[in-house]
Amino acid sequence: MPDKNNEHPRMNQGLGRLRGKVAIVTGADSGIGRATARLFALEGAKVVCVDIEERGDPRVDHLITNDGGQAVFLKADVSQEPGCKSMVSAAKENYGGLDILFLNAGTGVRQKIHEMSNEAWDHVIQLNLYGIYHGVRAALPLFMDQGYGNIICTASSLGVLASPRYPAYSATKAGIINLTRQLAVDYGPEVRVNCICPGPIDTNRVREFPPRARPVTDEQKTASEKRVAGLHRLGLSEEVAYCVLFLASDESSYVTGHALVVDGGQTISAQ
Ligand SMILES: NC(=O)c1ccc[n+]([C@@H]2O[C@H](COP(=O)([O-])OP(=O)(O)OC[C@H]3O[C@@H](n4cnc5c(N)ncnc54)[C@H](O)[C@@H]3O)[C@@H](O)[C@H]2O)c1
Repeated sequence: MPDKNNEHPRMNQGLGRLRGKVAIVTGADSGIGRATARLFALEGAKVVCVDIEERGDPRVDHLITNDGGQAVFLKADVSQEPGCKSMVSAAKENYGGLDILFLNAGTGVRQKIHEMSNEAWDHVIQLNLYGIYHGVRAALPLFMDQGYGNIICTASSLGVLASPRYPAYSATKAGIINLTRQLAVDYGPEVRVNCICPGPIDTNRVREFPPRARPVTDEQKTASEKRVAGLHRLGLSEEVAYCVLFLASDESSYVTGHALVVDGGQTISAQ
């Protein structure tokens, strides 16, 4: 039976699949990043948890140490070059290197393009695309020097589908999918680069964003779950985390440039 006090009820004890590895996770104190940082640590990785805010209670590094794992927390803005450089430095200083870079922090603004301010457009581009640009540029010199490295980015099912009033978000997520392929071509065979495309996942972002005047009703929740063709429910953060784990582990050693859809079937039907 799942433990109701466990915020990740589908997360199992680790099998050592990342034993000896050092990982960075961005957007690590909430949602998909938080579940993935925890799972990486359960699987034996030492994790640099990067977030612009301290959101979780307990904070993600404390959640990990409570599990018996190893983690440090770095408060940094990964949409900017200094924040990305500091996270790679933190990995080297705390754990002597870096093996896995999970660039996950992202944001969106629900407005049609003619309604958006330049600032709102830039805000989404800055985190979703520059966050990847600065993140990979901070880590690639190290990965090229050591002759290996593993990069995973968070795109979205909305990188392959449109969604009403979501132009900047869907453009950046489509960009991440092809940037993933580009990076895999340019930095293979030493560095593998993949991305995940989550569908609707039950995280703070989905519950609170776009900001709602009234909380989501049960009827609205049921309707949005029914729209997920196939599994008819929202996903859990740890269900995405297990897919990231696969890409981060040596079990996916022949996978690169791939966009792994984790969407309960959202993208399989036109209805
Ligand atoms: N939840 C979904 O349904 C869904 C679906 C598809 C894709 N995604 C993508 O998954 C990723 C994570 O989403 P989530 O739902 O877990 O979100 P979330 O809001 O639960 O967590 C995002 C975290 O990123 C952090 N963050 C924001 N800006 C940052 C910055 N500049 N520097 C460092 N950290 C920053 C936030 O503080 C937060 O802790 C995003 O890229 C999002 O686009 C989410």
